[in-house]
Formats: sequence, C-alpha cells, structure tokens
Amino acid sequence: MGRLTGKVAIVTGATLVDPGGLNIGGATAAAFAAEGARVVLADINIEGARTLAKQLEAEHGPGVALAVETDLRSEEQIRALIDTAVTSFGGLHLLMNVAGVFPADDGEVATMPIETWDDVLAVNLRSALLTTKHALPHLLSGGGSIVNTASTHAFAGDTSLTGYGCTKAALLALTAYTATQYGREGVRCNAICPGTTRTPPAQQLPAAITDIYRRHTPAPDLNGPAELAQVYLFLASDASSGINGETIRVDGGLLAHQPFVPDMVALAATTASSQG
Ligand SMILES: NC(=O)c1ccc[n+]([C@@H]2O[C@H](COP(=O)([O-])OP(=O)(O)OC[C@H]3O[C@@H](n4cnc5c(N)ncnc54)[C@H](O)[C@@H]3O)[C@@H](O)[C@H]2O)c1
Repeated sequence: MGRLTGKVAIVTGATLVDPGGLNIGGATAAAFAAEGARVVLADINIEGARTLAKQLEAEHGPGVALAVETDLRSEEQIRALIDTAVTSFGGLHLLMNVAGVFPADDGEVATMPIETWDDVLAVNLRSALLTTKHALPHLLSGGGSIVNTASTHAFAGDTSLTGYGCTKAALLALTAYTATQYGREGVRCNAICPGTTRTPPAQQLPAAITDIYRRHTPAPDLNGPAELAQVYLFLASDASSGINGETIRVDGGLLAHQPFVPDMVALAATTASSQG
C-alpha cells in the first residue's frame, strides 16, 4: 500500500514539457501517483499538464490523473477545478499550491509596472487563498493537507523580483493563518521554500548565473524537482501528521550560511594557492 493510497490531490503548476522535463508540481504529482494517490493537474499550460497525465496513466493505470485547464487568476475557474476534482474522483484530501510566476519585468520598486505587480500577486498569492477557500469545505469533511510554495525570496531581498518576493513572504503568513484556523478540525497547512531548483525555467539560466547559485549552495549540486517532490510527499502524508503551520526550506542550505562564506572560501583558496 502506498503512502497516499485512497487520497485525491490537486497539484497546481504540474507539467511535463519538452525540452525540460518535469517541473516541481509535475514531479510532485508523479511522486503522489507512485504512492497511490489520484491527481488532478491544474495548469494554464494544458498541453504540458495533459502530457504528464498521459504519462502517469501509462505508468499507474487509467483514471489516476486528470489534467484540468485552469487560469488560477480566475475564481470561477478555481471553483470549477475543485468541482471537477470532487465529481471525477469522489472527494478531495490534498491541495498542493505549486504554480507561480517570476516575469522578467518584475524588477525594482522604483520602476515596477503596476500591471506586473498585480499579475504576480494574482497568480502567486491570490490563487492560493482562492484554491484553499474553495477546497476547504471538502478537506474539512475528512481531514486534509495543504502545502503552499514560497521561496527563499520570502526571507531576503534581491535586486529584482520585488513582486515575487513579496508574494512568497505573504504565502508564509497565509500558511500560518490557515494552519491556525483549521488545524483543530484536521486540516494542516505548511509551506515549502525551494531554492534554485533545476526545473525547466531554471535550465534556461546562463551557466555563469547557475555557477553563482552553486557557489552559494553548500550541497554537491542544486536540487532537482524530484528532491522537492519528496518533501511535498512528506507534508501530504500522515508521516507529518504532527506538523502544522511550518515552513521547510528545501534549498540545499542556501540560507544556512553567513552571506560572506563563499567569498571567504574563495579567499582561502587564493591564499593557499599563492603560498603553495
Ligand atoms: N525553480 C526554482 O528555482 C524555484 C525556486 C524557488 C521557488 N520556486 C517556486 O516553485 C514553484 C514551481 O516553480 P517551477 O520552477 O516548477 O516553475 P514552472 O514555471 O515550471 O512552474 C510553474 C507552473 O505554473 C503554471 N502557471 C503559471 N501561471 C499560471 C496561471 N495563471 N494559472 C495556472 N497555472 C499557471 C505554469 O504553466 C507552470 O506549469 C513556483 O511557485 C516557484 O515560484 C521555484
């Protein structure tokens, strides 16, 4: 028996794309299906979600996965998504809010296009409130687990991605409020903060940028979607039944160290080579 046998999950932002492969939501849906869950893949990229649903059905049997085209900026579409999940699979137990955007023009405060700010807030933050709001009546009837996807950008400033970072910080607050309000009734809500993860968008980054992330991450390599998926699986499963309102960084240690550590390591290497 799998760790999620009998559970129905909605995973937002779950796709399989070529080139690139699974994103974080896609790898999470795949891990859930492998553990016995039936999964609803909610994404605006319906082609990517359908490709993943087909693959999951080929691996785990018909009726395991359903792709539902959803623009998470629309409350009507979110309402329809939840109805489809419940009608198709007979209930709802797990809500994984993974979808998110980080547009190129989400830059500095002084030059922020307000349309970009509004759009980032709608996709990253408002959608999590709305999916939670409409899923709650179903989760409350049998217990459930919600996981929101924040980021290391929730904790520290950057030269760009102002809107993105603000939504990710606010998601931690939404997580705490949801956990506080529904925990007693058996609905848990936790948050995951990925660091740079080798998903399709991150694979497009120039090597010089990826090297900087690697230099600042005290791990053999940057995480891939599969490492993230294992933490969603843990927070969705009964193995984490004692955890509610928690935030777990899955960043390979990016924020574990003092910001100057990579410079100190480089300085030590330079000193050692000049002495040798
Ligand atoms: N990859 C990283 O390095 C990284 C780091 C920190 C946090 N995160 C967070 O992890 C989550 C997943 O990111 P990813 O790297 O897998 O990126 P991704 O771009 O592959 O996944 C995001 C998904 O959201 C979907 N989406 C975008 N707008 C939507 C909308 N309006 N309605 C419905 N779906 C929409 C996209 O189609 C896509 O499938 C995001 O919330 C992201 O902020 C990622």
